[in-house]
Amino acid sequence: MAKIVILTGAGISAESGIRTFRASDGLWEEHRIDDVATPEGFSRDPALVHEFYNARRAAARVAQPNAAHLALAELEADARYDVLIVTQNVDDLHERAGSQNVIHMHGSLFGALCHACGHRWPAPEVMTATDSCPACRRTATRPDIVWFGEMPYQMERIVAALEDADLFVSIGTSGNVYPAAGFVQGATEAGVETLELNLEPSTGTQLFDTSHHGPATQIVPQWVRERLARA
Ligand code: APR
Repeated sequence: MAKIVILTGAGISAESGIRTFRASDGLWEEHRIDDVATPEGFSRDPALVHEFYNARRAAARVAQPNAAHLALAELEADARYDVLIVTQNVDDLHERAGSQNVIHMHGSLFGALCHACGHRWPAPEVMTATDSCPACRRTATRPDIVWFGEMPYQMERIVAALEDADLFVSIGTSGNVYPAAGFVQGATEAGVETLELNLEPSTGTQLFDTSHHGPATQIVPQWVRERLARA
């Protein structure tokens, strides 16, 4: 089985109607990262942060997986490929497309986390600053999202899979946020072939062995079709 590690970012969900972060109409044009995506911002104004993620959760709920998500699930279902998706996205479109081997390195909109006791539970549709933890009863609930300054989830497993892969593919990510932006270098150092599929050249595009640029709903299914057509 060929081992393929696929990193995805906001660009794979863009054509499902979920806004990216760094486009001219992206989320970070309207919201300050410091306010809504850091532990300090949450301490200052938890209601504002909950409002931001409640809106993201509502948008993710109505979005549907697109042809790129579906193509990756099809690749995983082929017995010749061992596929691991490492997503920076906090939506659940990979799972709803049928992918099973998915790591949410930046957490999930559909999880709640108690920052007092560490308990996790499914997020309600609308979270508020006065919600209490079902385990310890303290009022310390936050979205289970990895914010700037926090350690992404499952890094050991990701690094091990990257070093052991035959191919690393990066899809729909601008390459601005570490550690994900460094995966291409790690893969290259481990002798793993690398491929970028993105709308436009990412920040680290020159680090990839091969790059294809275009909308994910076109170039991802095309790449998967080529893989599946191989004898
Ligand atoms: N098809 C393919 N790529 C696309 C498409 C599309 N239809 N639309 C946009 N893109 C590309 C953009 O060109 C850009 O390079 O997707 C990338 C999105 O970049 P960002 O908005 O920076 O999103 P991402 O790389 O996922 O951000 C990483 O930053 O703010 C944090 O935690 C947040 O997980 C996020 C992380």
